[in-house]
Amino acid sequence: MTMAEVLRVAREKLYPRCRVCPECNGVACAGEVPGFGGIGSGAAFRNNFDSLARLNLEMRTFHDVKKPDASVVVFGETLSLPVMAAATGGVTYNMGGKMTEEDYVDAIIGGCRMAGTIGLVADGIGDPMEVFQRRMAVVKQYGGKVVVIIKPKTQDEIIKRIRMVEEAGAVAFGIDIDSAGRAARAVAGQTVEPKTPKQLAELAKSTTLPFFIKGVMSAREAEIAVDAGARAIGVSNHGGRVLDHTPGVAQILPAIADRVKGKITIIADGAVRHGADVLKLLALGADATMCGRPLVRGAHGAGKEGVALILNGIRTELIDSMVLTGTATARNVSPDTISEVRA
Ligand SMILES: Cc1cc2nc3c(=O)[nH]c(=O)nc-3n(C[C@H](O)[C@H](O)[C@H](O)COP(=O)(O)O)c2cc1C
Repeated sequence: MTMAEVLRVAREKLYPRCRVCPECNGVACAGEVPGFGGIGSGAAFRNNFDSLARLNLEMRTFHDVKKPDASVVVFGETLSLPVMAAATGGVTYNMGGKMTEEDYVDAIIGGCRMAGTIGLVADGIGDPMEVFQRRMAVVKQYGGKVVVIIKPKTQDEIIKRIRMVEEAGAVAFGIDIDSAGRAARAVAGQTVEPKTPKQLAELAKSTTLPFFIKGVMSAREAEIAVDAGARAIGVSNHGGRVLDHTPGVAQILPAIADRVKGKITIIADGAVRHGADVLKLLALGADATMCGRPLVRGAHGAGKEGVALILNGIRTELIDSMVLTGTATARNVSPDTISEVRA
């Protein structure tokens, strides 16, 4: 199975939600939320893509780095590449309903396992508990090698789900705090809300599972996440899908890393498409990255094999980029791997 075949099938299944453009940069799908796009003008999605594309790498070939080590350790798990599947949800309202929830989660998590990494599973704002339970059954099936994301519901509703995540044996749980503005989509008995530092600390203390706060876009809030007892932050604008006109992740990441690097695990996402994108985010201070839209296409194009094909392709590109920048290990990427920022 070739990449071209995977993408052809993905296009058949996902069109017009996703047009499977040669460059997944948020232009064609601007404003398409639900769907695959960025919200409103689409600027936040485009900022992710453009801010990464503006960075150039310094080529260095006078060294002895022949077999770089692309592995990293996240939540106590050794990953064969510093890329995890991002949380992507809404098989019906975002993706068009060509896969069932179980088949989709199975493709993402199974594909990650095949590629030697782990993935995140998403939560829907209005998902009945029974849907969450079905998702946890898949998590269990994969021996828990998964990070489970819970929407920023009320404290009680989150803690109820944390108990189920513990039971399923997941490696960590997270909340996508940047979904807090979507209360309008809530259904009876379930809503979403921003959290105070005290509430974040309460969630961290409610379990021995590592706590991941996804959707941190400022150095100030990154520090609050550290103080609240989170194990990791996701520097992410939710793929540009929640607040129009947020900066690109590559623009904001250095200031965040400057403040909290070494105190908390920094996981960044937003327009990771190729190995060089991963290397750039690591050079800017991330410990690992996540990839969203390309893996949704992989899952629809060929299930877990499609997801693994894309992740393995990114790993090959990353290793080539590491050799050509003299980067021995993904656990320590020098900031001067980035040589310049194009205007
Ligand atoms: C269709 C779709 C659904 C998503 N659903 C969720 C979600 O339910 N929870 C979440 O935390 N992030 C969600 N995201 C955001 C991703 O986790 C991730 O932050 C983003 O996709 C990264 O950008 P990229 O797609 O350009 O790689 C979704 C993204 C897409 C494209």
